[in-house]
Amino acid sequence: MKYQAIFLAIGVLLLLFGFAHSEQQGKGKSQAERIFARATEDDYMGSEACASCHEDVSKGFAASPHAPLMAHAGLPLDKQGCEGCHGPGRIHQAEENAEVIAFRKMTPEESSAACMRCHGQTLSEVHWKVNEHKKAGLSCVSCHQIHPTSDPALTGVKKGNAKDARSPIFVANVDPKAMLKADEATLCGSCHGPTLGDFKHASHHPVPEGSMVCSDCHTPHPTKDAKVRKDALKNNCVTCHTEMAGPFVFEHDPVSGHTGDGCLECHQPHGSNNPKMLNSVSRGLCSQCHTDKLGRHYPGQTCWTAGCHVASHGSNTDPRFLKH
Ligand code: HEC
Ligand code: HEC
Ligand code: HEC
Ligand code: HEC
Ligand code: HEC
Ligand code: HEC
Ligand code: HEC
Ligand code: HEC
Ligand code: HEC
Repeated sequence: MKYQAIFLAIGVLLLLFGFAHSEQQGKGKSQAERIFARATEDDYMGSEACASCHEDVSKGFAASPHAPLMAHAGLPLDKQGCEGCHGPGRIHQAEENAEVIAFRKMTPEESSAACMRCHGQTLSEVHWKVNEHKKAGLSCVSCHQIHPTSDPALTGVKKGNAKDARSPIFVANVDPKAMLKADEATLCGSCHGPTLGDFKHASHHPVPEGSMVCSDCHTPHPTKDAKVRKDALKNNCVTCHTEMAGPFVFEHDPVSGHTGDGCLECHQPHGSNNPKMLNSVSRGLCSQCHTDKLGRHYPGQTCWTAGCHVASHGSNTDPRFLKH
């Protein structure tokens, strides 16, 4: 009897959930999807029609990497030219219910959905949903700019001085790629000011010098690897520093990744005032784990600069890392 009641309760719950779910799916269409869904073939005017009123924008668009990709006459109408992004011109010009897709004026959700109509290959919707930036209310156009002529409007940067975000320490000028609003140091730094500060330290990854960018380490878009994102970030050090990856005859646990945060147990990722971006330049670095070696074992020196454990990453000849 008791079990029957439980099954009944579960059944009712499932049913309710089912209703709620299907209702959500009905509402789930984005503004962009709704505009294109109500369009008929006659609603499309072609890109030339836009130029008569939006002359400057239209001229500038030719320089956008998107322009040639969307110029092909064989594409379906809802993927062609200006209208492929902004919606059919006659709906925009209609007497009643006029609507146009205005990316920077829409909510971040609606705006991103309008890009995602075509960018399912770049990232899946599920992956975008778990993205830190999506959760923080950003959209694709927080970082990307489609029209070379539009105002980049960087968050946290005063108008007319787009270089404010970068401290003078960022000496190199790097051309923005992938239609970003600005080079990555400026773009990412406009919101992550304190991180730019990390690169001021004496020992740092050469981002200010222009030979690295933030996205060499950070994946701005989640991909199929999103689940292991954190882990991937941790392990990506050895994609460049292959010599630290071993394998060594005698591995050091934290380096080979079996303990804690791997490389980050001893190094800062961006920069540090200690040499070699170390977290600390005292024996404390090692004794956070080797607590027994805190005081009595060879006092007054660090474990590696004393000329002893010089092979902190692992050794092929010495189990105590005394030699390489
Ligand atoms: C007859 C003139 C005319 C034509 C043709 C026209 N537009 Fe517009 N468009 C306007 C006017 C007027 C506005 C409103 C401007 C404003 O509010 O600042 C506007 C607004 C827009 C906006 C919103 C801008 C924003 O950020 O608020 C977009 C996007 C746009 N048009 C795209 C297009 C595209 C794409 C086409 C071609 C399919 C097109 N327009 C054709 C007159 C026109
Ligand atoms: C790949 C998508 C895409 C295509 C194609 C596209 N636009 Fe845009 N448009 C945008 C986005 C995104 C913005 C917001 C500003 C930006 O990112 O440059 C925008 C902004 C605008 C604006 C508002 C003014 C401004 O600078 O903010 C107008 C008007 C406009 N587009 C017209 C056009 C016309 C006309 C064409 C064709 C020549 C066109 N767009 C093609 C995505 C697109
Ligand atoms: C109508 C289809 C369509 C829409 C809508 C669209 N794109 Fe694209 N976009 C493409 C195609 C096709 C490519 C080339 C293939 C690729 O990289 O996926 C492309 C390429 C790109 C690239 C890479 C360019 C490069 O230099 O490598 C970026 C960045 C991009 N799109 C951003 C956006 C953003 C942001 C939006 C929304 C404002 C958007 N796209 C809307 C079709 C579209
Ligand atoms: C936090 C900033 C940021 C946001 C938000 C963002 N992007 Fe990007 N995007 C980048 C950076 C940086 C690159 C270049 C590095 C790279 O290729 O991975 C890039 C590259 C791209 C590319 C070209 C390379 C590729 O992976 O195919 C496309 C297409 C693209 N973005 C589309 C989008 C779309 C669509 C959205 C919204 C769903 C979006 N981006 C949101 C920063 C961002
Ligand atoms: C428009 C502002 C903005 C831009 C541009 C931006 N971010 Fe962010 N970013 C945020 C916000 C807000 C968060 C949410 C967490 C927080 O408050 O730090 C975040 C989170 C992150 C995180 C995760 C932080 C954590 O604690 O796990 C990383 C890593 C990151 N951003 C890197 C980047 C990189 C790399 C770029 C450039 C490609 C970039 N961001 C561009 C606003 C921005
Ligand atoms: C050499 C690889 C590398 C480069 C280059 C890099 N990062 Fe990071 N970043 C990391 C790692 C690893 C972490 C994780 C730190 C942790 O978990 O303690 C991180 C953490 C962050 C965080 C989270 C907050 C924090 O400081 O822990 C932000 C935000 C961030 N990075 C932004 C940026 C920006 C912006 C740039 C470019 C100016 C950049 N990163 C360049 C590897 C890198
Ligand atoms: C995209 C390639 C790349 C990745 C990924 C990368 N590095 Fe580096 N790393 C470099 C370059 C380039 C230098 C500078 C080498 C030079 O100046 O000779 C460097 C230098 C260093 C240095 C020496 C700094 C000094 O002052 O001599 C350390 C330590 C270091 N990286 C640790 C790390 C750690 C830890 C990670 C992972 C969080 C990491 N690296 C990820 C490219 C990379
Ligand atoms: C147990 C602490 C520890 C861990 C974990 C660690 N390192 Fe180091 N690393 C050091 C020490 C100590 C030095 C300085 C060695 C010296 O000055 O002779 C160093 C130096 C470096 C250097 C500079 C080498 C040079 O000759 O200039 C790089 C690059 C580096 N580490 C990368 C990494 C990478 C990548 C990882 C993760 C796979 C890692 N480290 C993990 C302790 C560590
Ligand atoms: C995150 C923790 C951690 C840090 C930090 C760390 N180690 Fe280790 N280390 C280990 C572990 C775990 C082992 C394996 C211990 C075992 O097998 O009993 C090990 C083994 C060793 C060994 C081999 C001899 C032995 O005790 O087995 C030496 C030598 C050593 N570490 C030196 C260092 C030095 C030098 C530093 C600082 C540059 C350092 N360690 C930092 C965790 C750490």
